[in-house]
Amino acid sequence: MLINMRDLLKVAYENKFAVGSFNVANSEFVKVVINAAEAQNSPAIMQIHPNEIDLVTDSFVAYVREAASKSKVPFVIHLDHGASIKDITRSIRNGYTSVMMDASHLPFEENIAATREAVELAHLVDVSVEGELGTIGSNEGSSEGGADEILYTNPDEAAIFVEQTGIDTLAVAVGTSHGIYPQTKDHSIKIDRLQQIHEKVKIPLVLHGGSDNPDEEIREAVKHGIAKINLSTDMKRAFYNQLRKTLDANPNAYEPDFLMPEATQAATELVKKKMDLFGSTGKASLYKLGEL
Ligand code: 13P
Repeated sequence: MLINMRDLLKVAYENKFAVGSFNVANSEFVKVVINAAEAQNSPAIMQIHPNEIDLVTDSFVAYVREAASKSKVPFVIHLDHGASIKDITRSIRNGYTSVMMDASHLPFEENIAATREAVELAHLVDVSVEGELGTIGSNEGSSEGGADEILYTNPDEAAIFVEQTGIDTLAVAVGTSHGIYPQTKDHSIKIDRLQQIHEKVKIPLVLHGGSDNPDEEIREAVKHGIAKINLSTDMKRAFYNQLRKTLDANPNAYEPDFLMPEATQAATELVKKKMDLFGSTGKASLYKLGEL
C-alpha cells in the first residue's frame, strides 16, 4: 500500500516509533526493503536521492510504485535531498508520494522561501514535504552530500521555519553525518538539543545519517520526536560486503540469480534489525489503510 509521509508519520509520531527510510538505488534494494517490511509487519519508506535517480533513471520509480502498491504494509516513496523545484517537479511526475526540499545551505529567509515554494506545489497533489534546518555532516564515501561543518538546528528558528513553510516533517541537525564516521569525529546525537526542538516543533522530526550510530542513542532520539530515520550506508555495506565475499569465493560466477541472493539476504537481515531498533516492527497493524 502506498501512502504519503504525513499519513505514515502521524501514526509513528503518536505512537513514539520511527519509520526507516532506506535508499533504494537498484532493484535489489527494493526487494530488501519490501521483504524486511513484510517479514516484520513494519511500515517503511523507500527513498531515492537525485544522484541515485540519475543512476536508475525515471522509469525505475514505476517499478518501485508497482512493488510497493502490491504490498499489504504501508510504504512511502520519497525524494531524498531534493535541491530545486526541478527535482521536486520531476519526482511528483514520477509518482513519489513525498519529497524533501533541502535548501539548508541557504540563509534562513531564503531557505524558508524555497521550501515554501515546494510545499505550495507538492500539497496541490497531496504529496508531503520534508524541509531541513541546520546542516547534516558528510563523511568520506557517501554520495548523499552534507556539510563539512555541522550547524545544529536552532529550536526557536525551527518553530518559525515550520510555521512559515507549512512543511509536514522537519530534518534536524543534531550531530549525525551521512556515511561512516572517522574515529576522531564526535558524532554523538545531541539529545538535549533534540529535546529543545521537540518542545517547540509539533510535527514529526527526521534524523539523517542513521548509519553507524550507537543503538542506545537511536532509541533515545526516537523518544524525543524522531519519527523517520534515514538509513543508507549500513544497508549498502551489508549488501556489498556479502557480494564481495560471494564473488571472491566464486571467481568465475557471473549470473545475477547466483550472485545476488546472499547479498540481498544479508541486507534484509540488517534492515529487519533496524526496524526492531526503530520500534516499527509489528506497527503496520496500526494503520487503518481503508480510511486513508
Ligand atoms: P547514512 O548513509 O549515514 O545512513 O545516511 C542516509 C541519509 O541520511 C540519507 O539522507
